[in-house]
Amino acid sequence: MPIETTASVVAEVPDDADLLAVPYTSDLAPAQVVELHLPVGDLLSHYEAKGEAGEIVEVPVPRAGGGVGRVLFYGVGDGSPRALRKAGAALARRVKGKDTLTVVAPGGDVGAFAEAALLASYSFKIGNAGKKPVRELALAGADEGAVQRAQIVAQAVALARDLANTPSSVKNPAWLAERAAESGLPVRVWDEEQLQADGFGGIVAVGRGSASPPRLIQISYTPSEPVDRHVVLVGKGITFDSGGLSLKPTDNMKTQKTDMAGGAVVIAVLRALARLGAPVRVTGLIAAAENMPSGTAQRPSDVIKHYGGRTVEVLNTDAEGRLVLADALAYADSVLDPDAVVDIATLTGAISVALGRNVGAVYASDDVLAKQLVDAGQASDDRLWRMPLIEDYTPALESSVADLANVEAGSRFGAGSITAALFLREFAGRRPWAHLDIAGVGRSTVDEGTLSKGATGFGVRVLLEWLTRS
Ligand code: BES
Ligand code: MN
Ligand code: ZN
Repeated sequence: MPIETTASVVAEVPDDADLLAVPYTSDLAPAQVVELHLPVGDLLSHYEAKGEAGEIVEVPVPRAGGGVGRVLFYGVGDGSPRALRKAGAALARRVKGKDTLTVVAPGGDVGAFAEAALLASYSFKIGNAGKKPVRELALAGADEGAVQRAQIVAQAVALARDLANTPSSVKNPAWLAERAAESGLPVRVWDEEQLQADGFGGIVAVGRGSASPPRLIQISYTPSEPVDRHVVLVGKGITFDSGGLSLKPTDNMKTQKTDMAGGAVVIAVLRALARLGAPVRVTGLIAAAENMPSGTAQRPSDVIKHYGGRTVEVLNTDAEGRLVLADALAYADSVLDPDAVVDIATLTGAISVALGRNVGAVYASDDVLAKQLVDAGQASDDRLWRMPLIEDYTPALESSVADLANVEAGSRFGAGSITAALFLREFAGRRPWAHLDIAGVGRSTVDEGTLSKGATGFGVRVLLEWLTRS
C-alpha cells in the first residue's frame, strides 16, 4: 500500500501542537524557534542525552488549553544527511498510531530527513495487523520543494516495495504489465506470441514452464523540453523464481516472490520521473517471466537463441535472470539507440556473500558511468560499491555447443556475481553500460530505520538521484 503519511510544510509552529518534535545536537541546546518554558538543557542531561542521531527524549508538557502534550527532542548527530535520515526514521517510528507530528525542521538536508521519515512509515500488510503510521508530518520552516521531492521519491520507493511484496499468486507477468500501464506513460507490451515472433528466445525459454506466460514491458518517459540524453533502464522481472527444473530448496525459494524487484524499481522510477519533470529521456524495459518447473519447462542442456541471434546453453535453469536480461539488453542496444544502459536485477546469491545486505553492487563498462552511480548512491542512501569485471573469468562461460553457457560448468573460477555480470556484458553492446546486482539489498530481514521487512525498493533512490542530477 502507498505510504499513508503525508509530509507538509507549515510556516510556524502552532501553539497548541499536541505532539511536537524539536532537534538538538551534542551541546544539548535545542533549536530556539519555539518558546518551550522548559529547562531543556537540564532535562536532556538528566536523561543522559548525547545528541546522537536516532536518540529521542520524550517530555510531557502542560498544554495552554489544558491537558498534556508531548515534546520529542530528537538528536541530529553531526547534522549530515545520513544522520538526519536516521533521526527522521526514528521519529516516524516513535509516533506510529498518532495523528499529527509537528516537527521543528532540522538544519541541513530536510529532504533526506522527510524522505526517511516517510519510508519508516511504510508497511505492507494484507489485513489489519500492527499500528497505523502517523497521519501527518507537519514540518515547520522546511523548504517546500525539498519536502515535495522527498514525498515523490518515498512514494516511488513504496510502489517498488508494494509490487515486490505482492504474493506471486497475484502477480504474474501480465499483472506486472498492467501495473506498468497504470503509470499513465506510453507502454508497449510483447505477449508470448510476439516475443517468440521477434526472437526474444531467453524470455520465452524462462517463461515456458509457467501457466502464466511471459511479457516484455516497455515504458517511455519523454520530458516536455527537448533533450539529447537517452537512458535505458532494464529490470529483471521474474515474478517467482522456483529455480525451474533446477529447483530451489524451500528455504531459498520462499523469498523469491521479490525476484522482480529490479523490474519494480524500473516501473517506480519511470513513474516518478514524470512527477519530478526530469530533464532526461528514459525508456524502461521489464523482462517479465515466472520461472517454474513443469512438463513444458526448459531443461538443463537446452540451447536457446537470444534476441540478435546469439546462442546459449542453459546448464542451470535457476540462472534465469541473465537469460531474460540478455534479450532486453540486446534489444536496447540494437533498437533503442541509448546513450547509456543500466540494468538492475536480484541476480545472484553470491553478491550478498561479497557485499552483504546494506550495499548494492555496480558493475560497469565505463568509468564515468560507474562513478556517477556510486556518487548518486552515496547521496541518495542507496549505497553502491563498484565490483570488477575480471577478464580472467570470461572462460567460465564457454560452451562446447553454443556461443556461451549460462553458468560455469565446473567450479574453477567461482565468483558467481562477477561471472553473471560478464555474461550480461556480452549482450550490452559497446555503449556505456552498468549492471546493479541487488540480490543482497533487495530484501530486508528487519523492520528498522527506513527499512521494513520484505522488499526494500533499493535502486529507486539511486536511479532517481542519478537521472535528475544535472
Ligand atoms: N533470483 C536468484 C538470485 C537470488 C538469490 C536473489 C537469493 C535473492 C536472494 C537467481 O535467479 C538465482 O537463482 N541465482 C543463482 C545462480 C546460480 C544458479 C548460478 C544463485 O545465485 O544461486
Ligand atoms: Mn534463479
Ligand atoms: Zn532469479
